[in-house]
Amino acid sequence: MTFLTNAAYNCLKTSSVFISQSTSPLAPIGVTAALEAANDSSIKPHPKIFDEFALTDRVGIVSGGNRGLGLEMALALCEAGARAVYCFDLPKKPSEEWKATSEYVKRMENGSRLEYVSLNVTDQKAVWEAAENIGNREKRMDVCVAAAGILKTHTDCLQYPAEQFKEVMDVNTNGVLYTAQAAGQQMVRFGNSGSIILIASMSGSITNRDHAWVSYNTSKSAVLQMARSMACELGVKNIRVNSLSPGHIYTTMTAAYLDKQPHLLEKWSSLNPMGRIGRPDELRGVVAWLASDASSFCTGSDILVSGGHHSW
Ligand SMILES: NC(=O)c1ccc[n+]([C@@H]2O[C@H](COP(=O)([O-])OP(=O)(O)OC[C@H]3O[C@@H](n4cnc5c(N)ncnc54)[C@H](O)[C@@H]3O)[C@@H](O)[C@H]2O)c1
Repeated sequence: MTFLTNAAYNCLKTSSVFISQSTSPLAPIGVTAALEAANDSSIKPHPKIFDEFALTDRVGIVSGGNRGLGLEMALALCEAGARAVYCFDLPKKPSEEWKATSEYVKRMENGSRLEYVSLNVTDQKAVWEAAENIGNREKRMDVCVAAAGILKTHTDCLQYPAEQFKEVMDVNTNGVLYTAQAAGQQMVRFGNSGSIILIASMSGSITNRDHAWVSYNTSKSAVLQMARSMACELGVKNIRVNSLSPGHIYTTMTAAYLDKQPHLLEKWSSLNPMGRIGRPDELRGVVAWLASDASSFCTGSDILVSGGHHSW
């Protein structure tokens, strides 16, 4: 039985112009699949939306992956099926939290694993070498999440010490560049497409009220422009670069404020329309989306996940 009208046939034929420019790895998909199925009763439609998020066999790097948002995002990539996710962080040995998460990944038995590499993201040579070693071992590179970052105590902008400013910029901006470069070099080496996700912050777009964080805010604004700039250079190589800008989330970084000044929880919560701060696990979906083919036309974008903080 044929359900397609002539108009629908024509639409399908015309769409072949686009198919020759770019095709979903899961093609036929979406309405094109529906139109094909309408013309062939032997086709059994099945949902493909979650297949688009699958990271089966992909290899990734997450800097700052020993704890906090980095570790949460590394686990999300593993749950989406990544073959291996390498966590770059400072301590010589991974934390107990990391070890428990790595064990959890093993017990999922989905062929995924977490690996740990001790390094300082401000050491460009070390970061490049670590990524090259991963390339040698895994023979591919698909995803990079540059999440290593630091936040200092309240410091008057007019008296901000040069060394401290440089330190923050070195980790939060330069370190993000070195990590993205390292992964991007391997993506080019193996000729596959890739997704690079630079962890910025809503502090790159707004200033946190009553907090003297000029170095942090400046470093995060630089990351936003870095993502746009790299996206424009690397689009032709099919490497996507986006920034992800979280709002307030309770981690070791923010605990340095929230645990010492408990009144800040209520204050920070009142600064967004949701009336609460975020949980690390609330970044799982967005990082899986950005890393996967589900976001294949998204590059050069900043994705704000702030409970609406930036809207007020
Ligand atoms: N928690 C929040 O509310 C929030 C909001 C917006 C953005 N962010 C950003 O998210 C990222 C992760 O932050 P988090 O909240 O999980 O903080 P966190 O302090 O828990 O984690 C940061 C990780 O980066 C690592 N790191 C720091 N300097 C490094 C270096 N030189 N080399 C290698 N690793 C280094 C730390 O050891 C740590 O494991 C940061 O870039 C941060 O700026 C956090």
